[in-house]
Amino acid sequence: MEYITINGGRRLQGSVDISGAKNAAVAIVPAAIAAKGICTIENLPAIKDVRVLVGALKNLGIDCEFTDTHTLKIDSHNIKSCAITYDQVKDMRASYYLLGALLGRFKQAQVPLPGGCNFGLRPIDLHIKGFEALGAKINIEHGMVIAEAEKLTGANIYLDISSVGATINIMIAAVYAEGVTHIENAAKEPHVVDTANFLNKLGAKIKGAGTDIIRITGVESLHGGEYSIIPDQIEAGTYMIAAAATGGDVTVNHIIPKHMDSLSAKLTEMGCQVIEDGDSIRVIGTEHLQACNVKTMFYPGFPTDLHPQMSALLSVAHGTSLLTETVFEHRFQYVKELLRLGANMKVEGRVAIIEGKSSLSGTQVTASDLRAGAALIVAGLAADGTTAIGNVKYLDRGYERFEEKLTALGANINRIQVDD
Ligand code: UD1
Repeated sequence: MEYITINGGRRLQGSVDISGAKNAAVAIVPAAIAAKGICTIENLPAIKDVRVLVGALKNLGIDCEFTDTHTLKIDSHNIKSCAITYDQVKDMRASYYLLGALLGRFKQAQVPLPGGCNFGLRPIDLHIKGFEALGAKINIEHGMVIAEAEKLTGANIYLDISSVGATINIMIAAVYAEGVTHIENAAKEPHVVDTANFLNKLGAKIKGAGTDIIRITGVESLHGGEYSIIPDQIEAGTYMIAAAATGGDVTVNHIIPKHMDSLSAKLTEMGCQVIEDGDSIRVIGTEHLQACNVKTMFYPGFPTDLHPQMSALLSVAHGTSLLTETVFEHRFQYVKELLRLGANMKVEGRVAIIEGKSSLSGTQVTASDLRAGAALIVAGLAADGTTAIGNVKYLDRGYERFEEKLTALGANINRIQVDD
């Protein structure tokens, strides 16, 4: 069993370079299947979810070659199959993008119903409705989504919920649909825009990504090209929150500060100094963190993927905070672990009521999902004594060199192996 141990109570100081965005990478790597030429994708984060996807592509016969740690060449000339097996992708949710990519270009796909972080039911009904609207026949048999189509035809698709996954998946498939597709009530998250920019670089005709309505005019062929992935909004936010939780002074580099506005506003409200400078943000913490209320929303609202980390921060602020989750009903699984670290909070429905304390005290805890794990890291950094976090496999899915980057900021953090 692997654990991450933290001897907490140290102020984080210095600067940290943010990696490419996980949620953009896991869309763009499958989307590259749509290209008939070679794609070179730069600024890929070195994380497990990317490695798993690359493994799945290779199993289809697609040539994937890392030319360095963060640069991947994808050439789908020699693809032999459009069927993904469960074992290849069982631990990740974003495998659903293989459906849109394979269906769009080859008019057939077999992809397992997704796994991944378990913080809600997370159905993919909206993805399926979208593919059906484009003319695909979808069957779910033995846990596999089987999609096929003679051809795809543009359609007007209204999403009941502004789902990130459904927006991106339908957009990827619609690139090869005849005529025009409109996705209404589309998600506006930065990785939706990044995936659209990538596809447009290959010759797609996508307009309106980042607004409520995305218009895709089908094309006959996409060529290859080079593309660099945007920085990770959630990784950047995690370090900003960790800086605040330790009363530190941290500059996060290589980011898009605009993506951080909802978090920057909350940290400022709590008494931190948040200073933007070009593609960096410096967070200077305070000894007198003030409570504040937070509600997760679709972009540009406060991201649900920063909810657990923010909760850890609010647990060491002065006063009572309300944190409302509107996206995923089971996001609160981390709460029982924060309680073990001495936090004072309770959950009523979709609201966490957090009574801030001056300090937490380290103990052994377990991550229940990726961002829950990140919250425990933040809490462990702020806590007195030693915190040992189990289930670190979740953190490896989404944070590149987490311990190394935190060590460079002055954290006392290690990964240890313990016999079961
Ligand atoms: C993506 C992100 C995830 C983030 C989430 C919300 C990736 C790989 N993952 O997940 O990190 O937490 O956006 O920003 O990018 N829903 C349905 N039916 C569907 C699809 C979604 O009911 O077909 C619901 C979900 O249960 C949820 C809401 O819509 O309540 C939003 O989910 P969605 O935006 O699709 O999240 P994911 O794409 O799963």
